[in-house]
Amino acid sequence: MNDLPKTRWETGETTGYIERFSKLIDDGADIVGEARLGDALVKRGSTILDAGAGFGRIGAELQRRGHTVVAAEKDESLVAVAAERYPDLPMVTTDLLALTPALLKDHDLPTSFDLIVLVGNVIVLLAPQTERQLLAGLRELLATDGRVLVGFHPVGGHGSSRDYPFDEFADDAAAVGLTVQYRFGTYELDPPSEDYVVAILARA
Ligand SMILES: C[S@@+](CC[C@H](N)C(=O)[O-])C[C@H]1O[C@@H](n2cnc3c(N)ncnc32)[C@H](O)[C@@H]1O
Repeated sequence: MNDLPKTRWETGETTGYIERFSKLIDDGADIVGEARLGDALVKRGSTILDAGAGFGRIGAELQRRGHTVVAAEKDESLVAVAAERYPDLPMVTTDLLALTPALLKDHDLPTSFDLIVLVGNVIVLLAPQTERQLLAGLRELLATDGRVLVGFHPVGGHGSSRDYPFDEFADDAAAVGLTVQYRFGTYELDPPSEDYVVAILARA
């Protein structure tokens, strides 16, 4: 993992993420909207990858809904929080650029997925210039007819995240053989907006 470029998450200011979500959880706020939409996109008992899972909030909720979930996350401090909070959530500690079927097989985990969730601004916190590489790698992990649920702030996102206009994202997806099936502005399927991108990708 050491030879991979540092993510914007690693090089940026990321304090506050756990504290913010801990408070939301304590306050009883809704923190699983992404999981509700993800759940609606697949059949019961599907196989789902939570890519850049953070402390596992979305993967754990999808698991609670009966899916077979694998979470993957690079930040070891977040992996530790996930292990404490969601001990039954299978977690691979890895950079997503190194997440291959072979690595998953080594961990005795599924190697292809009906759905990949890439939510919570992961795509705008990758290492610079690695978006296409990441999307191409995720495409390799999709089952036939599998889809990717992506969510991010296209401009003015948190901390160290990049600006990533929707059209550039769609071009990057197309360049690696993925197409935008649907675009919304929220996880409640509001119309597309400039503030937030919710996109569902499938093989082109
Ligand atoms: C804002 S957090 C969101 C975490 C989680 N998806 C959520 O919604 O709660 C962004 C996450 O993306 C992860 N990330 C960014 N680039 C990554 C990469 N190349 N490999 C693995 N994780 C990555 C960071 O480590 C961080 O946990």
